[in-house]
Formats: sequence, structure tokens, C-alpha cells
Amino acid sequence: MIGTGRVGLVTGVALASVGHDVAGVDAKIETVELLQRGTAPFVEPRLDEMLAEQLGAGRIRFTSSAAEAIEGAMVAVICVGRPASARGDRSMTAVESAARDVARYADDGIVVVTKSTVPPGTCERMEHTIRLERPDLRFDVASSPEFLREGHAIEDTVRPVRLVVGAESDRVFGVMRDLYGPMLTAGCPLIEVDRRTAELAKLASNAFLATKISFANALARISELSGADVDGVTSIMGADPRIGPEFLGAGLGFGGYCLPKDLLSLRQHAEGLGYGFELLDEVEKVNHDAVAAAARKIEDALWNVEGKRVALVGLAFKAGTDDVRSAPAIALARLLLESGAEVVGCDPMAATAAKNELPQMRTVSDPYEAAEGAHCLVVCTEWPRSVELDLGHLREIMAYPVLIDGGNQLDSVAVVDAGFTYLPTGRPAIGHPEGGAMTDAAHDPR
Ligand code: UGA
Repeated sequence: MIGTGRVGLVTGVALASVGHDVAGVDAKIETVELLQRGTAPFVEPRLDEMLAEQLGAGRIRFTSSAAEAIEGAMVAVICVGRPASARGDRSMTAVESAARDVARYADDGIVVVTKSTVPPGTCERMEHTIRLERPDLRFDVASSPEFLREGHAIEDTVRPVRLVVGAESDRVFGVMRDLYGPMLTAGCPLIEVDRRTAELAKLASNAFLATKISFANALARISELSGADVDGVTSIMGADPRIGPEFLGAGLGFGGYCLPKDLLSLRQHAEGLGYGFELLDEVEKVNHDAVAAAARKIEDALWNVEGKRVALVGLAFKAGTDDVRSAPAIALARLLLESGAEVVGCDPMAATAAKNELPQMRTVSDPYEAAEGAHCLVVCTEWPRSVELDLGHLREIMAYPVLIDGGNQLDSVAVVDAGFTYLPTGRPAIGHPEGGAMTDAAHDPR
């Protein structure tokens, strides 16, 4: 495994757990040292225990030496990151450098597999690079995109819903069938295609998921304007198997490392080929507006946000992770801070990362500490601790009883019974006078 980030480490541990002999190489010495001690550098359910198990069994090891990992390997899986380049797009430098390492240290017969999400045509470029560096090497390059979700990474890798291999020869398909053997025996379907198709399918999958979410968020805006209930609309749509219920959850929009990046990547890839995929621009715009809509709602409820305190519950880009990359909660905090509000964010796992991302925001790990004296509380992610909030206690400690439910996780009746003005997403507000900025209750400055 070249690169031991989220995809590389999880895939490495999963492949070791089905009996393969895995070596992970990473340029970051601190990461390698951490992994050698059995500690994952990020939070992922079951990862630490599986890592310890595989280290103990001697099926996985970590090194900062590319030579040590690659020499003698039958398969080299490229899982390096693609950080933003100076131009704003995603850099391919690490992918190229991994190809050069393979050229330098590989043995004849190696199959090089890209798992990093890359634009179509990358396998050919890697092949060309390796050939230029080492004309005598016998090798093949394949694409096997990864579809794991953060927070479910182990489960998605050990029991994937589909495996994809893009290759150009029967030999490579054979090697990949052996690599994934136990997953295939367990019934996982394998889709074998050419390399460009596999590469495009990954970008297309993430861009389509983003499109579904933005469709739901556009419907949330329409529902708010027309008095409909977006959750009713999407559950009726989702009951049709041709549409499906997943990823129709309206809220603050999609974030994370992958969906925003791959949406842009597909847009840029299409543009480079002369096809303007403008639908994707709209998806991005609707996503941006989901956060802006929440900020407008807060402003409407509080009249002036300047000098008021807003508590944000759930700062990670989604529940179950400490990752705040492109997190809608952080974007919302930024807008509120720009308007002069005091923002207190709370997240049991992502508070430190959020503080690093946005130092002007005060961060705590306890929702009640965040809510103390707040004029408004916004539930940003479906974090379990946020859905089990003690509403009566919150009402007592908050300055104004205004609760904004970003992803419609709370029981509206319980919230209103506790004395709150309840402002969900894409559904009618309760306890909020038509056209008015605040309820009488919300005016009550305790
Ligand atoms: C995503 C894909 O789901 C994975 O299949 C893919 O492998 C991964 O990107 C990747 O390319 O590495 P992930 O970034 O972990 O996985 O996050 P998702 O679970 O897809 O959620 C993305 C965002 O959409 C989150 O901010 C989430 O809160 C939001 N979302 C999700 C909604 O707003 N509504 C929904 O109904 C579902």
C-alpha cells in the first residue's frame, strides 16, 4: 500500500485480515511511527483493534522506505492523497511520485493498482511514467476505485457492496480476483471494465450522490417557501425503487474531503474535453446555499446576530468522524462570525480539528456548555448526543429559546413542548409567527 491515509490504511488492514501479506509505506515518518505502535492517525470504528490484531499476527507492517515496501510485492496499491494545488485543483504530484517509486523498486510482473481517486486517463499516464523510468520492467497498471465512507470504512472495505476493476488484460483481472478472493466468495459482485470506465465511474458516483443531496436541498428551499414538508416529499420519492431513499436527506449540505472535490474534478475533466457539465455547477451552488439558508434563518430568528451567541452542535462534516474538511458547520460558523455573532461549537470528536480550522470559534465538547447563554442552538449533524439532548435543561440555560434543526433530527413536538421555537429544514417552523422575526417566547431575554 503506497500511502497510509484513510483509504490506504483501511484497505491495507482489510487485505491483511483476509490473509494477504501487507506492507504500508508513507512519506510521513510520524505517521509510520504511530502505525508501528498500533495507533491509527484518525478515528474510524474498529480500525484500532483490527490494526493491532493484524500487526500482532505479522500480516501488516509499516515503513517510510518505498524500497522496503515495494521490493518483492505482487501488487502495489496507490492510495496517496491529492492535496489542493496552487491552481486550486487537485495535485497529481504524489501519484506520479508513487509511479516513479514503483519503477525504481518493483520486480517483474507487478500489478500497479490506483485506489486514489483520479481523473480518467491516469492509469495510462502512470504506465507511461513507469515505462520511461524503467523500460525493461514487465508490469501492468489497473484501476480499482474505492467507495468506502468515512465512519464506515472498515465495514465498507471488508464487506463492500461492489468491487470494480478496470484493466486491459486477463492476467490483471486474474490477479485482482485473487486479491479480492474472500470478498468475492462472500458474495460481493465484481464489475470488470476498462481502466477509463473505472476511473470515470468513481467520480460519477460521488458527483451523483452530491446531485441527489442538492436536489433534496433545493426541494427544502421550495418546501420552505410553499409550506410543504421536504421529508414527506423525499420519503415519497425515495419509496420508488428507481429513485431510492438514500442521500435525499435535506440539511446543511454535503461536505467532507470527497464529494466536493470529486464534483469539481468531474466538472473540470468534462470541461477539459470540451463538455460543459453545468448541472454540476448548479449542484455546487445549491450546496453552498444550504449553509447560507441556515444563516438567513438564524438572522431572521434573532433579528440581529451581531453580539448574539450561537451554539453549533456537531462540527464534523457528518456524524461519526473527527473530520471537518469542507464541513457545512464550519462554513456556517464562518458566516456567523463574519456577521459579528459569537459562535460556540461543540463536537465530542471533532472539536480540536474544528478549532484548528477556525480559531475564532470557541469550541467545547459538551453541548450544554455550548448552549449556556446562547441565543440560538443549531443542530448541524445527526450526532447521537445532539439528538438525545435534554431539552428542558437546554431551555433553562439558553438566553433565547430558539432551536434550529439542520438535518431534521429532533422530535418537533418535544422541542416545542419544552418551550422552544423550532426551525427545521424544509418544513414549517413551529412557534414562529408568520412573517415575523421572533416569537414572544424568543423575545424573552432571560
Ligand atoms: C463519500 C462516498 O459516500 C463514498 O462512497 C466514497 O468512497 C467517499 O466519499 C470517497 O470518495 O472516499 P464520505 O465522504 O465518507 O463518502 O461521506 P458521505 O457519507 O458520502 O457523506 C458526504 C456528505 O453528504 C456529508 O456531509 C453528509 O452529511 C452529507 N449527506 C449525506 C447529506 O447531506 N444528506 C444525505 O442524505 C446524505
